[in-house]
Amino acid sequence: MSKEKLDTVLVSAGRGKQYCHGSVNGVIQRASSIVFNTFEEKKKATAGRGTGELFYGRRGTMTHFSFQDAMVELEGGAGCVLYPCGAAAISNAILSFVKQGDNVLMTGGAYEPTQDFCQHILGDLGVTTTYYQPLDGEKVADLITESTSVLFLESPSSITMEVPDIPAIVKAARAKKPDLVIMIDNTWAAGILFPALQHDIDISIQAGTKYIVGHSDAMLGTAVANARCWETLRERSYLMGQMVDADTAYVAARGLRTLGVRLKQHQENSIAVAKWLSERPEVERVNHPALPECPGHEHYLRDFLGCNGLFSFVLKKRLTHDEYCAYLDNFTHFSMAYSWGGYESLVLANQPEELNAIRPAGPVDFEGTLVRLHIGLEDVTDLIEDLEQGFNRIA
Ligand SMILES: Cc1ncc(COP(=O)(O)O)c(C=O)c1O
Repeated sequence: MSKEKLDTVLVSAGRGKQYCHGSVNGVIQRASSIVFNTFEEKKKATAGRGTGELFYGRRGTMTHFSFQDAMVELEGGAGCVLYPCGAAAISNAILSFVKQGDNVLMTGGAYEPTQDFCQHILGDLGVTTTYYQPLDGEKVADLITESTSVLFLESPSSITMEVPDIPAIVKAARAKKPDLVIMIDNTWAAGILFPALQHDIDISIQAGTKYIVGHSDAMLGTAVANARCWETLRERSYLMGQMVDADTAYVAARGLRTLGVRLKQHQENSIAVAKWLSERPEVERVNHPALPECPGHEHYLRDFLGCNGLFSFVLKKRLTHDEYCAYLDNFTHFSMAYSWGGYESLVLANQPEELNAIRPAGPVDFEGTLVRLHIGLEDVTDLIEDLEQGFNRIA
């Protein structure tokens, strides 16, 4: 889908008459029980419970169906499963496609809780995890064995932001094992800046908590699956009790309407800040996918429709504890917080050894402190001024 078309679909998707009943937005239908007037009605609902018939709260109401339709229109595929948060989407998607003795091939740049899930939960269930170096795409297929059932991707990598050659990884993996289930944590792309299913990926997962909700006030996970994986993902996630409340589904659908303009502004602001940072003497490297110095920048240019507000940069020096605190504690416009994707700017920092602890496929290639920024919708000159004062505090 072109960028222009995407803007139109973001506004219109999931807003059919059956969902809106005359209002602009879909109506909120809160329900645990669905009431059947006749036995025949109940029979029909039971038969169609996975395919859009109102059946039981945990299967969703019209509010959920509206948002799920919108997600499928945006990302393609056969259906969208909703989860209470991004972490639940990741863990349940993986759990839906593994059994004891299987192996998961996981990017070494994965979001830390995804790695912890593999180690603790999958490990205890007798499912092993092998990590690959995200920029060593050509070696990924060599790691696929008889027991590999899931290949898990994430682009860009969490925190360090390198952009893997996803099409090459997928092509080589499919050639080696055609029935492999390939899934991606597509949160950074908000599901739309990287059209995962068009790249032969089976399941596109995102923490809707971030850009879809967009206001840092609700948690949500989504997984859009192609026809091959849809029924298994839907039924197994249902068996594991996955659902979200109707109000959150409504808030998420509302978030879609402004996602296009918000992302454009995040992109404009973050590129301006990233370019400013790349000229600063304190900075070793800016890991912003849209900047040439970011590892894998060429893949970003080729595969993504745009970027957002989240990136990192590496300082030339490793901050001492006092410098670290002086730097982080005194920003005016940047708050310290883990989640991201809202309208506000955020800052976090990591020492290289902390990053090495979550880089199972190999250590990072720098020695300075890494700073991760989420650039929000504030005026860029205010943000740059704030960052400049930050540098003064560690001069
Ligand atoms: C890349 C990525 N995936 C998944 C998640 C998990 O999302 P949630 O907080 O909704 O569980 C996060 C949260 O920070 C994330 O950054």
